[in-house]
Amino acid sequence: MLKNSDLGDLPQRTKHNRTLSTWLLAITILCTVLDFSMIFWDRFLRVDLRSASTSDELELLPFQNSYLNLEILYKDPDFKSSTHDPIINNVPAIAQVSNKERQKIIPSFQRYKSVEQASAPIYEQRLIVTHDLESIAQFRVLDFGMENCSLSLTIPPRNSTEDFLYTDLGDSVILDVWSLPARHKLDLYNLSWSKLPQPRVHIGHMNVSYGKTSRMPSFQCKSQSYQTFAVSCSNPGCLVNVTGNDIGPSGLYMYQSQTI
Ligand SMILES: *[C@@H]1O[C@H](CO)[C@@H](O)[C@H](O)[C@H]1NC(C)=O
Ligand SMILES: *[C@@H]1O[C@H](CO)[C@@H](O)[C@H](O)[C@H]1NC(C)=O
Ligand SMILES: *[C@@H]1O[C@H](CO)[C@@H](O)[C@H](O)[C@H]1NC(C)=O
Ligand SMILES: *[C@@H]1O[C@H](CO)[C@@H](O)[C@H](O)[C@H]1NC(C)=O
Ligand SMILES: *[C@@H]1O[C@H](CO)[C@@H](O)[C@H](O)[C@H]1NC(C)=O
Repeated sequence: MLKNSDLGDLPQRTKHNRTLSTWLLAITILCTVLDFSMIFWDRFLRVDLRSASTSDELELLPFQNSYLNLEILYKDPDFKSSTHDPIINNVPAIAQVSNKERQKIIPSFQRYKSVEQASAPIYEQRLIVTHDLESIAQFRVLDFGMENCSLSLTIPPRNSTEDFLYTDLGDSVILDVWSLPARHKLDLYNLSWSKLPQPRVHIGHMNVSYGKTSRMPSFQCKSQSYQTFAVSCSNPGCLVNVTGNDIGPSGLYMYQSQTI
Protein backbone atom coordinates (compact mmCIF):
# COMPACT_ATOMS: atom_id res chain seq x y z
CA MET A 1 0.00 0.00 0.00
CA LEU A 2 1.21 3.49 -0.82
CA LYS A 3 1.17 6.03 1.93
CA ASN A 4 0.32 9.67 1.35
CA SER A 5 3.84 10.72 1.96
CA ASP A 6 5.04 8.14 -0.65
CA LEU A 7 2.57 9.54 -3.17
CA GLY A 8 3.90 12.99 -2.55
CA ASP A 9 7.47 11.71 -3.14
CA LEU A 10 6.59 10.00 -6.42
CA PRO A 11 7.25 12.82 -8.94
CA GLN A 12 10.39 13.65 -6.97
CA ARG A 13 11.63 10.05 -7.14
CA THR A 14 10.75 9.62 -10.81
CA LYS A 15 12.76 12.75 -11.49
CA HIS A 16 15.58 11.42 -9.35
CA ASN A 17 15.49 8.06 -11.19
CA ARG A 18 15.49 9.84 -14.51
CA THR A 19 18.57 11.84 -13.56
CA LEU A 20 20.24 8.63 -12.40
CA SER A 21 19.43 6.76 -15.62
CA THR A 22 20.59 9.73 -17.68
CA TRP A 23 23.89 9.58 -15.84
CA LEU A 24 24.12 5.78 -16.22
CA LEU A 25 23.37 6.13 -19.92
CA ALA A 26 25.97 8.86 -20.26
CA ILE A 27 28.59 6.71 -18.49
CA THR A 28 27.67 3.70 -20.64
CA ILE A 29 28.02 5.76 -23.80
CA LEU A 30 31.27 7.24 -22.58
CA CYS A 31 32.67 3.77 -21.81
CA THR A 32 31.52 2.44 -25.17
CA VAL A 33 33.14 5.37 -26.97
CA LEU A 34 36.32 4.83 -24.93
CA ASP A 35 36.27 1.11 -25.73
CA PHE A 36 35.88 1.70 -29.41
CA SER A 37 38.51 4.38 -29.50
CA MET A 38 40.92 2.04 -27.67
CA ILE A 39 40.18 -0.72 -30.18
CA PHE A 40 40.61 1.78 -33.02
CA TRP A 41 43.90 3.02 -31.52
CA ASP A 42 45.14 -0.51 -31.03
CA ARG A 43 44.19 -1.67 -34.51
CA PHE A 44 45.20 1.33 -36.59
CA LEU A 45 47.08 4.10 -34.84
CA ARG A 46 49.36 1.92 -32.74
CA VAL A 47 50.44 -0.11 -35.79
CA ASP A 48 51.32 3.19 -37.47
CA LEU A 49 53.45 4.22 -34.51
CA ARG A 50 55.24 0.89 -34.56
CA SER A 51 56.06 0.94 -38.22
CA ALA A 52 57.41 4.47 -37.77
CA SER A 53 60.17 3.16 -35.51
CA THR A 54 61.92 0.94 -38.02
CA SER A 55 64.50 -1.62 -36.99
CA ASP A 56 67.15 0.81 -38.26
CA GLU A 57 66.12 3.32 -35.64
CA LEU A 58 66.07 0.62 -32.98
CA GLU A 59 69.62 -0.30 -33.98
CA LEU A 60 70.70 3.22 -33.08
CA LEU A 61 69.58 2.94 -29.47
CA PRO A 62 72.46 2.57 -27.02
CA PHE A 63 73.05 -0.82 -25.45
CA GLN A 64 72.10 -1.26 -21.86
CA ASN A 65 74.93 -2.88 -19.99
CA SER A 66 73.81 -6.28 -18.79
CA TYR A 67 76.60 -6.40 -16.18
CA LEU A 68 74.89 -4.16 -13.64
CA ASN A 69 77.08 -2.56 -10.96
CA LEU A 70 80.10 -4.76 -11.68
CA GLU A 71 82.10 -1.60 -12.36
CA ILE A 72 81.36 -0.30 -8.87
CA LEU A 73 82.31 -3.66 -7.38
CA TYR A 74 85.63 -3.81 -9.24
CA LYS A 75 86.51 -0.20 -8.34
CA ASP A 76 86.68 -1.20 -4.67
CA PRO A 77 90.44 -1.59 -4.00
CA ASP A 78 89.75 -4.36 -1.46
CA PHE A 79 87.95 -6.46 -4.04
CA LYS A 80 90.16 -9.19 -5.41
CA SER A 81 89.23 -10.23 -8.91
CA SER A 82 89.83 -13.81 -9.97
CA THR A 83 92.01 -14.51 -12.97
CA HIS A 84 90.49 -15.74 -16.18
CA ASP A 85 92.08 -17.29 -19.20
CA PRO A 86 91.77 -15.35 -22.43
CA ILE A 87 88.60 -16.08 -24.36
CA ILE A 88 88.14 -16.89 -28.01
CA ASN A 89 85.40 -14.76 -29.51
CA ASN A 90 84.44 -16.57 -32.71
CA VAL A 91 83.07 -14.39 -35.45
CA PRO A 92 79.32 -14.92 -35.91
CA ALA A 93 79.38 -14.25 -39.65
CA ILE A 94 81.76 -13.03 -42.33
CA ALA A 95 80.56 -11.18 -45.41
CA GLN A 96 82.44 -10.81 -48.67
CA VAL A 97 82.28 -7.60 -50.67
CA SER A 98 83.76 -6.88 -54.07
CA ASN A 99 85.82 -3.77 -54.75
CA LYS A 100 85.18 -4.24 -58.47
CA GLU A 101 81.40 -4.56 -58.31
CA ARG A 102 80.67 -2.17 -55.53
CA GLN A 103 76.88 -2.65 -55.44
CA LYS A 104 77.03 -6.46 -55.49
CA ILE A 105 75.71 -8.42 -52.52
CA ILE A 106 77.57 -11.71 -52.29
CA PRO A 107 75.76 -14.54 -50.49
CA SER A 108 77.89 -15.35 -47.48
CA PHE A 109 79.26 -18.83 -46.98
CA GLN A 110 77.99 -20.42 -43.84
CA ARG A 111 77.11 -23.93 -43.00
CA TYR A 112 76.42 -26.39 -40.31
CA LYS A 113 78.72 -29.35 -40.70
CA SER A 114 77.52 -32.48 -38.96
CA VAL A 115 80.40 -34.49 -37.56
CA GLU A 116 78.68 -37.49 -36.07
CA GLN A 117 75.03 -38.23 -35.85
CA ALA A 118 74.99 -38.01 -32.08
CA SER A 119 76.72 -34.64 -31.69
CA ALA A 120 75.56 -31.13 -32.45
CA PRO A 121 76.55 -29.81 -35.87
CA ILE A 122 79.55 -27.49 -36.08
CA TYR A 123 78.92 -24.00 -37.28
CA GLU A 124 81.42 -22.84 -39.90
CA GLN A 125 82.16 -19.62 -41.67
CA ARG A 126 84.87 -18.74 -44.16
CA LEU A 127 87.37 -15.97 -44.55
CA ILE A 128 87.68 -15.55 -48.30
CA VAL A 129 90.04 -12.95 -49.66
CA THR A 130 91.15 -12.53 -53.26
CA HIS A 131 92.42 -9.73 -55.42
CA ASP A 132 88.79 -8.54 -55.87
CA LEU A 133 87.08 -9.76 -52.73
CA GLU A 134 87.58 -8.65 -49.19
CA SER A 135 86.04 -10.10 -46.04
CA ILE A 136 84.06 -8.07 -43.52
CA ALA A 137 83.80 -9.40 -39.97
CA GLN A 138 81.97 -7.87 -37.07
CA PHE A 139 82.51 -8.92 -33.45
CA ARG A 140 80.64 -8.05 -30.31
CA VAL A 141 83.06 -7.80 -27.38
CA LEU A 142 82.13 -10.57 -24.94
CA ASP A 143 81.98 -10.70 -21.17
CA PHE A 144 83.00 -8.07 -18.62
CA GLY A 145 86.54 -6.87 -17.93
CA MET A 146 88.00 -8.81 -20.88
CA GLU A 147 88.70 -5.57 -22.70
CA ASN A 148 92.08 -6.31 -24.27
CA CYS A 149 91.31 -7.47 -27.78
CA SER A 150 93.43 -8.77 -30.60
CA LEU A 151 92.18 -9.85 -34.01
CA SER A 152 93.65 -13.28 -34.69
CA LEU A 153 93.84 -15.81 -37.47
CA THR A 154 94.75 -19.45 -36.90
CA ILE A 155 95.52 -21.77 -39.82
CA PRO A 156 96.11 -25.51 -39.30
CA PRO A 157 99.19 -27.29 -40.75
CA ARG A 158 98.98 -27.75 -44.50
CA ASN A 159 98.58 -31.52 -44.48
CA SER A 160 95.63 -31.51 -42.09
CA THR A 161 93.34 -28.92 -43.64
CA GLU A 162 91.33 -27.89 -46.67
CA ASP A 163 92.22 -24.27 -45.91
CA PHE A 164 93.89 -22.61 -48.83
CA LEU A 165 96.57 -19.92 -48.84
CA TYR A 166 98.30 -18.81 -51.99
CA THR A 167 100.14 -15.86 -53.49
CA ASP A 168 102.37 -15.48 -56.50
CA LEU A 169 105.23 -15.31 -54.00
CA GLY A 170 104.57 -18.60 -52.20
CA ASP A 171 102.21 -19.62 -49.47
CA SER A 172 102.81 -17.11 -46.78
CA VAL A 173 100.25 -14.40 -47.39
CA ILE A 174 100.29 -10.81 -46.21
CA LEU A 175 96.82 -9.43 -45.51
CA ASP A 176 95.81 -5.82 -44.93
CA VAL A 177 93.58 -5.27 -41.93
CA TRP A 178 91.27 -2.27 -41.65
CA SER A 179 89.05 -1.05 -38.88
CA LEU A 180 85.61 0.18 -39.95
CA PRO A 181 83.77 2.84 -37.94
CA ALA A 182 80.56 0.84 -37.36
CA ARG A 183 79.09 1.59 -33.95
CA HIS A 184 76.08 -0.59 -34.63
CA LYS A 185 75.28 -3.94 -36.04
CA LEU A 186 75.80 -4.28 -39.78
CA ASP A 187 73.44 -6.37 -41.85
CA LEU A 188 76.10 -8.79 -43.08
CA TYR A 189 73.55 -10.63 -45.19
CA ASN A 190 72.81 -7.52 -47.21
CA LEU A 191 76.18 -5.83 -47.50
CA SER A 192 78.02 -4.49 -50.51
CA TRP A 193 81.21 -2.45 -50.84
CA SER A 194 79.18 0.73 -51.30
CA LYS A 195 77.34 0.24 -48.00
CA LEU A 196 80.47 -0.10 -45.84
CA PRO A 197 80.88 2.53 -43.13
CA GLN A 198 83.57 5.07 -44.00
CA PRO A 199 86.30 6.13 -43.47
CA ARG A 200 88.25 2.96 -42.79
CA VAL A 201 91.52 3.01 -40.90
CA HIS A 202 94.43 0.77 -41.86
CA ILE A 203 95.52 -0.94 -38.64
CA GLY A 204 98.25 -3.21 -39.93
CA HIS A 205 99.23 -6.41 -41.68
CA MET A 206 98.78 -10.05 -40.86
CA ASN A 207 101.41 -12.46 -42.05
CA VAL A 208 99.55 -15.75 -42.34
CA SER A 209 100.96 -19.15 -43.11
CA TYR A 210 100.05 -22.80 -42.54
CA GLY A 211 100.34 -24.05 -38.99
CA LYS A 212 100.59 -20.54 -37.54
CA THR A 213 98.51 -18.09 -35.55
CA SER A 214 98.92 -14.45 -36.34
CA ARG A 215 97.62 -11.76 -34.03
CA MET A 216 97.16 -8.07 -34.64
CA PRO A 217 98.50 -5.71 -31.95
CA SER A 218 96.06 -5.67 -29.04
CA PHE A 219 93.78 -2.72 -28.40
CA GLN A 220 91.36 -1.66 -25.72
CA CYS A 221 87.82 -2.79 -26.54
CA LYS A 222 84.82 -1.80 -24.49
CA SER A 223 82.68 -4.63 -23.20
CA GLN A 224 79.73 -5.29 -25.54
CA SER A 225 80.92 -2.84 -28.18
CA TYR A 226 80.97 -3.75 -31.85
CA GLN A 227 84.36 -4.10 -33.53
CA THR A 228 84.29 -4.27 -37.30
CA PHE A 229 87.14 -5.19 -39.62
CA ALA A 230 87.85 -5.53 -43.30
CA VAL A 231 90.54 -7.97 -44.44
CA SER A 232 92.02 -7.60 -47.92
CA CYS A 233 94.99 -8.87 -49.90
CA SER A 234 98.30 -7.08 -49.77
CA ASN A 235 100.24 -9.33 -52.18
CA PRO A 236 99.50 -9.71 -55.87
CA GLY A 237 97.65 -12.88 -56.89
CA CYS A 238 96.63 -13.68 -53.36
CA LEU A 239 93.98 -16.25 -52.56
CA VAL A 240 92.83 -17.11 -49.06
CA ASN A 241 90.03 -19.52 -48.18
CA VAL A 242 90.10 -20.31 -44.48
CA THR A 243 87.47 -22.01 -42.33
CA GLY A 244 86.62 -20.99 -38.81
CA ASN A 245 84.37 -22.99 -36.55
CA ASP A 246 82.99 -22.49 -33.09
CA ILE A 247 84.95 -25.25 -31.35
CA GLY A 248 88.23 -23.47 -30.70
CA PRO A 249 90.74 -21.04 -32.13
CA SER A 250 90.35 -21.47 -35.87
CA GLY A 251 89.98 -19.10 -38.76
CA LEU A 252 89.33 -15.51 -37.84
CA TYR A 253 88.46 -14.68 -34.22
CA MET A 254 88.97 -12.12 -31.51
CA TYR A 255 91.32 -13.00 -28.69
CA GLN A 256 90.17 -11.25 -25.53
CA SER A 257 92.24 -11.10 -22.37
CA GLN A 258 91.49 -9.88 -18.88
CA THR A 259 91.84 -6.21 -17.90
CA ILE A 260 90.52 -6.17 -14.31
C1 LIG B 1 96.81 -7.44 -23.94
O1 LIG B 1 97.00 -8.75 -24.40
C2 LIG B 1 98.27 -8.98 -25.02
C3 LIG B 1 98.27 -10.40 -25.53
O2 LIG B 1 97.26 -10.59 -26.49
C4 LIG B 1 99.39 -8.73 -24.01
O3 LIG B 1 100.64 -8.88 -24.63
C5 LIG B 1 99.26 -7.28 -23.47
O4 LIG B 1 100.21 -7.06 -22.47
C6 LIG B 1 97.86 -7.06 -22.92
N1 LIG B 1 97.70 -5.67 -22.56
C7 LIG B 1 97.06 -5.27 -21.46
C8 LIG B 1 96.96 -3.80 -21.25
O5 LIG B 1 96.56 -6.07 -20.67
C1 LIG C 1 101.81 -33.33 -41.30
O1 LIG C 1 103.20 -33.04 -41.57
C2 LIG C 1 104.02 -33.04 -40.43
C3 LIG C 1 105.43 -32.67 -40.84
O2 LIG C 1 105.42 -31.64 -41.76
C4 LIG C 1 103.98 -34.42 -39.75
O3 LIG C 1 104.75 -34.38 -38.56
C5 LIG C 1 102.55 -34.81 -39.43
O4 LIG C 1 102.49 -36.12 -38.93
C6 LIG C 1 101.68 -34.70 -40.67
N1 LIG C 1 100.28 -34.94 -40.31
C7 LIG C 1 99.49 -35.69 -41.04
C8 LIG C 1 98.06 -35.79 -40.53
O5 LIG C 1 99.82 -36.23 -42.06
C1 LIG D 1 68.96 -4.63 -48.46
O1 LIG D 1 69.25 -3.25 -48.32
C2 LIG D 1 68.52 -2.38 -49.19
C3 LIG D 1 68.96 -0.94 -48.93
O2 LIG D 1 70.32 -0.81 -48.83
C4 LIG D 1 67.03 -2.51 -48.95
O3 LIG D 1 66.31 -1.72 -49.85
C5 LIG D 1 66.63 -3.97 -49.09
O4 LIG D 1 65.27 -4.12 -48.75
C6 LIG D 1 67.48 -4.84 -48.18
N1 LIG D 1 67.13 -6.26 -48.41
C7 LIG D 1 66.86 -7.09 -47.40
C8 LIG D 1 66.55 -8.50 -47.81
O5 LIG D 1 66.89 -6.73 -46.24
C1 LIG E 1 105.87 -13.95 -43.06
O1 LIG E 1 106.02 -15.18 -42.37
C2 LIG E 1 106.87 -16.11 -43.06
C3 LIG E 1 106.86 -17.41 -42.29
O2 LIG E 1 106.72 -17.22 -40.93
C4 LIG E 1 108.28 -15.50 -43.19
O3 LIG E 1 109.11 -16.39 -43.90
C5 LIG E 1 108.16 -14.16 -43.94
O4 LIG E 1 109.43 -13.53 -44.00
C6 LIG E 1 107.20 -13.24 -43.25
N1 LIG E 1 107.00 -12.05 -44.06
C7 LIG E 1 106.96 -10.82 -43.54
C8 LIG E 1 106.79 -9.69 -44.52
O5 LIG E 1 107.03 -10.60 -42.33
C1 LIG F 1 86.61 -22.34 -50.45
O1 LIG F 1 86.83 -23.70 -50.12
C2 LIG F 1 85.67 -24.50 -50.08
C3 LIG F 1 86.07 -25.90 -49.61
O2 LIG F 1 87.34 -26.26 -50.02
C4 LIG F 1 84.99 -24.51 -51.42
O3 LIG F 1 83.79 -25.25 -51.35
C5 LIG F 1 84.67 -23.07 -51.83
O4 LIG F 1 84.14 -23.06 -53.15
C6 LIG F 1 85.95 -22.24 -51.82
N1 LIG F 1 85.56 -20.86 -52.13
C7 LIG F 1 86.28 -20.07 -52.92
C8 LIG F 1 85.73 -18.70 -53.17
O5 LIG F 1 87.33 -20.41 -53.41
